Amino acid sequence: MRIGVLCSGGDAPGMNACLRSVVRAATSDGHEVIGIRRGYQGLIDEDFFAGGADSGCMSARSVSHILERGGTVLHSSRCQAFTTPQGLQTAAAALRRNGIDALIPIGGDGTFRGAVALGKVWSGQIIGCPATIDNDLVGTDLTIGFATAVATAVDCIDKLRDTAESHERMFLVEVMGRNSGHLALATALAGSAEIACVPEVNVDADSIAKHVRELRSLGKQSIIIVVAEGDEQGGAVALNQKLAQAGCPYGTRTVILGHVQRGGSPSPPDRILATRLGDFAVRSLAAGATGMMAGDSAGRCRLVTLAETFATHKPLPEHEVELLERMSC
Ligand code: F6P
Repeated sequence: MRIGVLCSGGDAPGMNACLRSVVRAATSDGHEVIGIRRGYQGLIDEDFFAGGADSGCMSARSVSHILERGGTVLHSSRCQAFTTPQGLQTAAAALRRNGIDALIPIGGDGTFRGAVALGKVWSGQIIGCPATIDNDLVGTDLTIGFATAVATAVDCIDKLRDTAESHERMFLVEVMGRNSGHLALATALAGSAEIACVPEVNVDADSIAKHVRELRSLGKQSIIIVVAEGDEQGGAVALNQKLAQAGCPYGTRTVILGHVQRGGSPSPPDRILATRLGDFAVRSLAAGATGMMAGDSAGRCRLVTLAETFATHKPLPEHEVELLERMSC
């Protein structure tokens, strides 16, 4: 079998580990792997990873020492052309012209929407691997990159706590996650933040200000509020203004963590998840599966239909929302 592999959408730590796993699992089972650069844009442009091999295929050696690297050596893109019928037809023609029988797209919901659309105009097999710091895909407990992004954000919050305590201030720290609060909630819990503002839970600014005043009266020297970028309050800066109007007993500062959360070497759990899912994707292709995502549920690899992964909002773990509230005293 000739397998194409690409990384698409926002990069996530562990994409390289997943690529390495796909290449090594496939080549050890006698398959060929074509690395496609710059996501779906590279597929349309037939921009393939040279990797030094005469065959144009990726070898086990071509992915040496990439497991520990952040980003993606294949590069990534958000491809507008791939959302058009013309772009999809061009991509399908490129796959046929290059004798590619199966595709492993590594990415998030946008990547999988593209994969589902491609599956309607191309008869090859498709198995996706979930890689996004947002952890917003249904059908897998965790996405590749999420754990590392949480660790990065928590490291920043630990540092912010030092200065917050010294100056008895409140920090509003905005994290990524698009319209999902998984990254914010996990960061808040692991970073001992007092409050998390997430899109899944509606709380008005007056209630937050009231809670902050209560914490002040309990002797809290500093407050950290983690704000998901997709929260209805409109982000950390907007919430800060509302809290000031609602009466906040601390001097405040806002910090937007931004793309720093997407970078860095993947954590060991992300390296292991990426390696397991890349290998499972290859084995699933060999078993004849298509139109599916390789996910992980309670430590076991499983397949879910690609369309299912983005059809509904992945709920936050309720018990963690409650746990954070109980710790905020
Ligand atoms: O989906 C990953 C993500 O980092 C989101 O959390 C964020 O909203 C978005 O990508 C940012 O995208 P870009 O890098 O294109 O600005």
